[in-house]
Amino acid sequence: MSGRRRADTGERLTPKGALAIETIGLRKCFGSVTALDDLSITVEPGEVYGFLGPNGAGKTTTIRLPLGLARATSGEARLFGLDAWAEGIEAHRRLAFVPGEFPTWPTLRVGEILDLSGSIHGGHAPSTRDELYERFEFDPSRKGRKYSKGNRQKICLIAAFMIQPGLLVLDEPTNGLDPLMEITFRHCVNEAKGRGQTVFLSSHILSEVEVVCHRVGILRAGRLIEVATLDELRRAPGYRVGADVKGGRHPVVCKTGGKDRDRHARGEHLGGPHVARVMRLWPHSPLS
Ligand SMILES: Nc1ncnc2c1ncn2[C@@H]1O[C@H](COP(=O)(O)OP(=O)(O)OP(=O)(O)O)[C@@H](O)[C@H]1O
Ligand SMILES: [Mg+2]
Repeated sequence: MSGRRRADTGERLTPKGALAIETIGLRKCFGSVTALDDLSITVEPGEVYGFLGPNGAGKTTTIRLPLGLARATSGEARLFGLDAWAEGIEAHRRLAFVPGEFPTWPTLRVGEILDLSGSIHGGHAPSTRDELYERFEFDPSRKGRKYSKGNRQKICLIAAFMIQPGLLVLDEPTNGLDPLMEITFRHCVNEAKGRGQTVFLSSHILSEVEVVCHRVGILRAGRLIEVATLDELRRAPGYRVGADVKGGRHPVVCKTGGKDRDRHARGEHLGGPHVARVMRLWPHSPLS
């Protein structure tokens, strides 16, 4: 279908005032492993929400539950007010999901993959698709199995951005992209933001989310330990903490705020590399 250029925020079929994403007391256990514990998240329609956490924190699991790709042990997960299991098909018509790893269909050409993906969402504009090929410097002439990891990721990103859905769920979407393509990706997210699309962007790289997101939630060991706008984080009081950097001990200033102040002050809320990344955000950090 041509000419479908407006973000479908799903307002027609969505209960008035419904959140784009809502989880309430979500818990997910894999045997004896508790991947998520009492996780409550709200994402407003039109919001760009960054979801940060170290490896194994539970970001992908959090995403899979409202998408209906896994079942919660307890708690609720809704997209646009729709239940992930009972109304999953309806919910999926309004979103595009970009996983961190996209295997593609090995024997289909990219045009066929995108047509298939577009048709699920009621079609796409070929001109938008072609423009995205150019912006991502992507050659669509080959079959799926012949693409490198970064290029497979581009296929998935092009498929998501070309249909302009009400909600983009992006799980570490720049995995495998080179730095220039990361910039293109950021521009695309900013354009989606300008159109009023909701974006849920999971990452373990603060610099990736800080430039595009309205709010950031930080996940640690399956628990949400902070939710704030970047302005709020920047205005929060500073703490002097110690961090081991390349074997030496250097005093650094980490600005953070909110709950669990003592744990923040000891830098326990994030793993070592993440402490370094958080500190790079703050202008007074000697690591910046
Ligand atoms: N299918 C599964 N079976 C068993 N354990 C799982 C399964 N999926 C996830 N886990 C566990 O749940 C926890 C959270 O994993 P998850 O993949 O959600 O983390 P993540 O934040 O996405 O990590 P990464 O940044 O590495 O992608 C981890 O302890 C992981 O080992
Ligand atoms: Mg993950």
